[in-house]
Amino acid sequence: MLNVALPKGRLGEKVYDLFERAGYPCPSIKENNRKLIFENEEAGVRYFWVKPSDVAIYVEEGAADIGVAGKDILLEYQPDLYELADLHIGKCRMTVAAQKGFRDDPRRTLRVATKFSRIARAFYASRGRDIDIIHLNGSIELAPILHLSDVIVDIVETGTTLKENNLEVVEEIFPISARLIANKSGYKFKSEQINRIAAALSAMTEEKV
Ligand code: PRP
Repeated sequence: MLNVALPKGRLGEKVYDLFERAGYPCPSIKENNRKLIFENEEAGVRYFWVKPSDVAIYVEEGAADIGVAGKDILLEYQPDLYELADLHIGKCRMTVAAQKGFRDDPRRTLRVATKFSRIARAFYASRGRDIDIIHLNGSIELAPILHLSDVIVDIVETGTTLKENNLEVVEEIFPISARLIANKSGYKFKSEQINRIAAALSAMTEEKV
């Protein structure tokens, strides 16, 4: 059995559909219930639903052999694991955003609200810009509206959350997409099985020229 950590939420369904199309279905996963583990013995896979930011922990620790995590999570937490493939789904952008009309005053320390403290620190360090990080766990867009911060460093997918809160992108930091990741020792013991699944997923997602 290959243990697979899937990110629940927005990305999860797309990721499961991809595994299904690649030949690893598990129809019971689509039942409307609160179960977290689903198995298809015949296909040799056991899926777990995991909080997106926790997928890398499950895989790094070996509780899952493989999983799917956004590039944002991998850059923020820098887990010790293998990144096997870009799945070309879950595309979005890491950005700096602020209230419309915001102008940075370089004489003042910039207050940055974010879930991605490491990414934000590295980005502003590369600019030599002094910042204070305000680490939040969600609804980051509230911070500049309530003057808790000057800017936010956060993910933008459709842009709807920014728009509906009168914020705008100031700058893009990097593009994000979902990556297939593998536990390092699990990969040694189950390399054939993991390579087969990685190839089947890549065949489904590679952008045809
Ligand atoms: C993410 C991100 C933005 C939003 C962007 O939040 O932090 O708030 O999605 O998406 P959009 O550009 O399509 O509007 P998430 O939904 O993960 O919730 P959170 O507030 O708990 O972080």
